[in-house]
Amino acid sequence: MRAALVRSHGGPEVIEVATVDDPEPAEGQILVEVAACSVTFPDLLMLRNMYQFKPDLPFIPGSEVAGIVCGIGPGVQGFSIGDRVLGTGGSIGGMAELALVRADSTVALPESADFAKAAGLLYGYGTSYHALADRAHLAAGETLVVLGAAGGVGLAAVELGRAMGARVIAAASSPEKLELCVEHGADDTIDYSSDDLKARIRELTGGTGADVVYDPVGGPYSEPALRSTAWDGRFLVVGFAAGEIPRIPLNLALLRGASIVGVFWGSFSARYPERNRRNLETLVEWWCEGRILPHTSARFALDQAADAVETLAGRRAMGKVVVEPQR
Ligand SMILES: NC(=O)c1ccc[n+]([C@@H]2O[C@H](COP(=O)([O-])OP(=O)(O)OC[C@H]3O[C@@H](n4cnc5c(N)ncnc54)[C@H](OP(=O)(O)O)[C@@H]3O)[C@@H](O)[C@H]2O)c1
Repeated sequence: MRAALVRSHGGPEVIEVATVDDPEPAEGQILVEVAACSVTFPDLLMLRNMYQFKPDLPFIPGSEVAGIVCGIGPGVQGFSIGDRVLGTGGSIGGMAELALVRADSTVALPESADFAKAAGLLYGYGTSYHALADRAHLAAGETLVVLGAAGGVGLAAVELGRAMGARVIAAASSPEKLELCVEHGADDTIDYSSDDLKARIRELTGGTGADVVYDPVGGPYSEPALRSTAWDGRFLVVGFAAGEIPRIPLNLALLRGASIVGVFWGSFSARYPERNRRNLETLVEWWCEGRILPHTSARFALDQAADAVETLAGRRAMGKVVVEPQR
């Protein structure tokens, strides 16, 4: 099969396309003909050897795939050849014509599902649903601030916050990004490249602050956002796309009776596959009902896998970017 391959660490330019052996499904695995593989921030970090999981070289990047079942490993039940599915095999292996996924992390897709849009459900929406529902216990009527709100996990958090009945304030770095957030359900916006983040959150919440802050960006935004949480607020630590892991004065949590809550969807889904699968089934259901509308801003052929990853590195991605190996 043809696959994107990383033979040495570096930026997106190290990705080449090569012919490699077809994978064989082992116990508990399914082989998928990949229609779409979404690009995620950890793909970029793994290229640079800066992610917590460090795959051996050479490796095929890409963690979540949507496509058609074409092989079934021993012990797998509930799937048949030809099924349309969304799944993950772990952190790598997706940007290829064929990919292995774990049956316990795979859900069926409806006939009508657009693969390119489905490919963002698992990681983007799976992470944000786990963060908002399981970790923050976001309730209807609460105020949610989402940083990096036009990114992959950010835009999912905007939509899910809205679907869960919260008032959503989207924060991002450009008017174009914020416009997309409004189209996807944000009630208010903050351009943190020009506005004072803390002052605007305070202003938009009448001085009360945000009940929940969703932070996949880190860097200079975390501390002002934590300073703007309401009493009993929850600050969700999701990621550090800005590159810097902030050091936070802990008195900020004390003063607000606030909780700083870690979110690690990959570990959650490995520890609790059944709970994760139920979350994913909820997300597919909400998608079919039109309560969430995954947004794909760019689609690339396999030969352009490096350009796809570069879109995230260049801070240009909005919603999801996908690689379509069958194009
Ligand atoms: N904890 C978990 O379980 C979990 C799961 C999934 C993802 N994550 C993490 O969440 C973060 C976002 O992932 P994603 O897939 O949503 O990525 P993404 O689509 O590229 O979104 C990241 C956002 O971060 C902002 N950003 C600020 N500085 C940036 C920089 N120097 N380079 C790139 N983006 C920058 C950008 O928004 P603005 O331009 O508007 O600032 C961008 O939209 C990553 O750190 C990822 O590792 C964590």
